[in-house]
Amino acid sequence: MRVRIKALTRREFMTTASAGLAATSLAASPAPAVSGNPNALALKGGTPVRSKPYPSWPQTFELDEQNILKALRNHRWCTFDGEFIPRFEKAWAEELGVRGAVITPCGTHALHMALELLGVGPGDEVVVSPFTYIATVQAILMCRALPVFADTDLRTFQIDPDDIERRITEHTRALLPVHISGAPAHMDKILAIAQNHNLPVVEDACQAHVAEWRGKRAGTLGTIGCFSFQETKVLPGGEAGALVSNQQDLIEQAFIFRDFGWDPKSEHYSIRGTKFRISDFAAAVLMAQITRFKDICLTREKHSAYLREETRKVPGIIIQEHYPESTRQTHLDFCFRYEKEQFAGLGRRQVEEALNAEGIPVGGTYPALNREPFIEHTLDSRGFRAIYSQQRLDRYRQQNHCPHNDELCATSFAIDQHVLIGSKQDVNDIIEALYKVQKNAATLT
Ligand SMILES: Cc1ncc(COP(=O)(O)O)c(C=O)c1O
Repeated sequence: MRVRIKALTRREFMTTASAGLAATSLAASPAPAVSGNPNALALKGGTPVRSKPYPSWPQTFELDEQNILKALRNHRWCTFDGEFIPRFEKAWAEELGVRGAVITPCGTHALHMALELLGVGPGDEVVVSPFTYIATVQAILMCRALPVFADTDLRTFQIDPDDIERRITEHTRALLPVHISGAPAHMDKILAIAQNHNLPVVEDACQAHVAEWRGKRAGTLGTIGCFSFQETKVLPGGEAGALVSNQQDLIEQAFIFRDFGWDPKSEHYSIRGTKFRISDFAAAVLMAQITRFKDICLTREKHSAYLREETRKVPGIIIQEHYPESTRQTHLDFCFRYEKEQFAGLGRRQVEEALNAEGIPVGGTYPALNREPFIEHTLDSRGFRAIYSQQRLDRYRQQNHCPHNDELCATSFAIDQHVLIGSKQDVNDIIEALYKVQKNAATLT
């Protein structure tokens, strides 16, 4: 999650830490003198649990360099003549067991293109999760449609299917669940709702490259799945994304849309489209990264399973649960909530600062997107006022409440995936820091 923790992102935190600066430099107050007392919080002058950096990300190997060089020397660098783009599209479709994959410049564009291909446009509504990265919601707004937020299930941090049902209206044109933090949303219920209402499902699988629902890969269960291969993802290519589908017509339309609507079969600009093409270099990196990403996922999954079992024992820590039908998850973020009362009434930011000072790169998750200023800015824009009646916009505002999501955003934390790809000791340090901060929370009040 690219959420900013205070002035620094967690990525910057890692860089800062690996540059040898003490983790305590993140604290709001000046870095305290280290007293050497291992029992006192680092924010109170104690010894931090950890001063070593966590593994960096992305990881590169010989093959990345070889592929990049090959792409360079090919002198065929763009989408229609690059070597690696079609190779990766084939490899990713095969990996997922899906009919086709179409590379896009990023996951955001894959989502935008998916909605365009399904005909989502002005006047429509798309039911979406508010607990997600901003891209999911902006993709809907780019189609000049209204994002209708269904509340979050506080247990699993996923979109609440019962609330999806309640939010469907005559204007609903698609459902857009997100498989958040690498775990699947409740696809049985979502697909049943979609079928009842004859709606397509666009799965935002940008964080869920290997997640499975009843043994099937996330992103392949709905009408269209969208992936991100942005640098922080578990399969990184710098900036890139993909749209996948089992429907041949949608795959063909995606290739056409991505190239300004140019249909090579008819040799005409057959549909409205734009340029969602990429250069071959990102695909060259992806073709290298795909050869090892699943091995790294296995390490991450082993460590997160251990971290889940241990952190659930820490008083006041509530981890993100997975549905029993979810047969595989690899955390893009390891997410959990805390109970304020068990942390001496400390605010989320204070707990975050205390953990950061102990050397643990933890941050907040997401702001409550349905309450962020961009929503009102958009509703109040000339374009949206031209499309939607005042009455409809007022009704939208009145209904735009997700209390469970508000609570989740105010009380949740995330640890980036690469923190979990090192040693068991790396994980033990997180557990130790959580116990330490919980036990000593009162010293910060
Ligand atoms: C849930 C979700 N959706 C969409 C995106 C957008 O992907 P990209 O950054 O490749 O545009 C992201 C990226 O972080 C994401 O986490």
